[in-house]
Amino acid sequence: MKQTLIAGNWKMNNGLSETKALIEDLKKIEIQDHCEVVICPPFVNLGMASQLLQGFNIKLGAQNMHYQDKGAYTGEISPKMLKDLNATHVIIGHSERRQYFGETNELTNKKTGAAIGHGLRPILCVGETLAQREGQIAKKIVRRQVIEGLKDIRLQSGEEVVIAYEPVWAIGTGKTATNDEANEMCEFIRQVLSELFGDNIADAIKILYGGSVNPKNVDGLMSEKHIDGALVGGASLKAEDFSRLIHYQVVRP
Ligand code: 13P
Repeated sequence: MKQTLIAGNWKMNNGLSETKALIEDLKKIEIQDHCEVVICPPFVNLGMASQLLQGFNIKLGAQNMHYQDKGAYTGEISPKMLKDLNATHVIIGHSERRQYFGETNELTNKKTGAAIGHGLRPILCVGETLAQREGQIAKKIVRRQVIEGLKDIRLQSGEEVVIAYEPVWAIGTGKTATNDEANEMCEFIRQVLSELFGDNIADAIKILYGGSVNPKNVDGLMSEKHIDGALVGGASLKAEDFSRLIHYQVVRP
């Protein structure tokens, strides 16, 4: 059975001491083999997080990266630097980066390719705004984000990349997509991935849902056929909540 993935996107939260305290609490959580767990602290705390997590079953991710290996790109971090810190994952094209920092599908494509080239697993984020959903163009937008984000990318197995469907209107708002809405879009994304890579690779690609995932709604979301995990913001900042997410229960209707 495909492993699920629960990833915590800490965003711009937690300084040095809070990072240390939260990681020490997370290290007490029992993690089962069927669920891969990743935390993505801010860049400046990745080094310490990497040391603290040594020997534990929690993987480390970054929230962004540049696509070049090195050079005159003030303020940027390269995939090689992340590899040096034993990061395994990197979030690419989060809607907050698209919204506040002007990231385009073209840029997410370069970053996704660079991450895979360096053996990092990109978590490519896609998702529509409320206006796009209300304008009935959500699928058109998501389809374009997937196709352009993965342009010219070759995959051997599908395990090289993760897609996160995060409807912008559900992020940090407490408004979750219903299980059906989330599953429908994840299924649609899988169809697009099948067109690009064939059924076998598309089936192997993990598709996460993100947007106000919390201990109350996680079981329902994780019980959906096309949802292979969650990308979590707010609820990843408390060990107790994150632990509950990792220990989701599949509920059969
Ligand atoms: P929230 O879980 O806080 O809604 O954030 C979701 C998100 O943006 C994860 O990347």
